[in-house]
Amino acid sequence: MRILRTKSEEETISLGKKIGAKLDGGDLLLLKGDLGGGKTTISKGIVAGLGAKEDVTSPTFTIEQIYKGKNDIYIFHYDFYRLLGGDIAEFEFLENLNSDKAVVLVEWPENLEADLPHERIEIILTFINETTREIQIKTFGAKYQNLLGDL
Ligand SMILES: Nc1ncnc2c1ncn2[C@@H]1O[C@H](COP(=O)(O)OP(=O)(O)O)[C@@H](O)[C@H]1O
Ligand SMILES: [Mg+2]
Repeated sequence: MRILRTKSEEETISLGKKIGAKLDGGDLLLLKGDLGGGKTTISKGIVAGLGAKEDVTSPTFTIEQIYKGKNDIYIFHYDFYRLLGGDIAEFEFLENLNSDKAVVLVEWPENLEADLPHERIEIILTFINETTREIQIKTFGAKYQNLLGDL
């Protein structure tokens, strides 16, 4: 596990870019923490780090947003804050977990009933003050063993 602090939105986006640059198809990231913690903000960096050119918008109302990154990878960005049981997005989400061309980012994974794969990255953002966030990065599974090395 790594624990970092960022002192601005821009710093969090930069950290996200570094993480995104290390990702590849088949990867799963869970983003946890309070509303306004910075889950969507760090996602902006992660999506950019994966080579997508589009601006990231919050999937709070759409549940799912899709971006195209490097090497024909698609980035599926979910926000399950408003998930209703059995929502169609949950089924598509589960299918995407099995694709080696998809990187899956999930805000509010706590609201999913499905069991998630053990191999995953978890990023937990905690509000310290208006401009400072504590960011914990945890990895589960051998696949991500070296991910935290040079963040
Ligand atoms: N260090 C920081 N890291 C990330 N966001 C920050 C930071 N400092 C201030 N902010 C602000 O906090 C808010 C985070 O919102 P957002 O990323 O949408 O949160 P979430 O998706 O977790 O609800 C944004 O308005 C952002 O500008
Ligand atoms: Mg959000």
